Amino acid sequence: MARAINRSALVKRALKARERAVAPYSRFKVGAALLTRAGAVITGANVESASYGLTCCAERVALFKALTEGHEQFVAIAIAARAPGGPMPCGACRQLLAEYAPTASVWVVDAAEPRQINEFSVQELLPRAFVDVP
Ligand code: THU
Repeated sequence: MARAINRSALVKRALKARERAVAPYSRFKVGAALLTRAGAVITGANVESASYGLTCCAERVALFKALTEGHEQFVAIAIAARAPGGPMPCGACRQLLAEYAPTASVWVVDAAEPRQINEFSVQELLPRAFVDVP
C-alpha cells in the first residue's frame, strides 16, 4: 500500500506526540512518529526516571510500541524537539533503528521551526551497524 501521509503530516504527529513527553528532569521534550508501509502511524515521547539511566527516548518508545503492536516495514520516522536543526537520535536509538527500521527515512525537526525538515538515512546515522549475531 502507498504511504498514507506525507512528511509534514508525519512531523505534525511527532509534534503532537511531544506534548505527552514525561521529562520532569531535563525538561527536554521529544516526540516521534513512525510510519509503516501499510500507512499506520505509531507515536511516542520520551519518558524520564528519577533514576536517570532508565529514561527512554521518544524514538525507542515509538519503536517498541510499534513492534509489540505487530507493526513492521517502517518507511519513515519523524522526530521533533526544541533544538536547532532538530534532535539527532542518540546512539542507542540509532542501533535500534538500524535493526528494526534500516531503510526508514529519518526526518528531524526543531519544534520551533517545523517546516524545516532535515532528512537522514539510518545508514548514514549508523554506518556498519552490528545487526546480527554471527
Ligand atoms: N531524547 C530523546 O527522546 N530523543 C533524542 O533523540 C535525544 C534525547 C530524550 C532523552 C531524555 O529524556 C532527554 O531527551 C534529554 O536527553
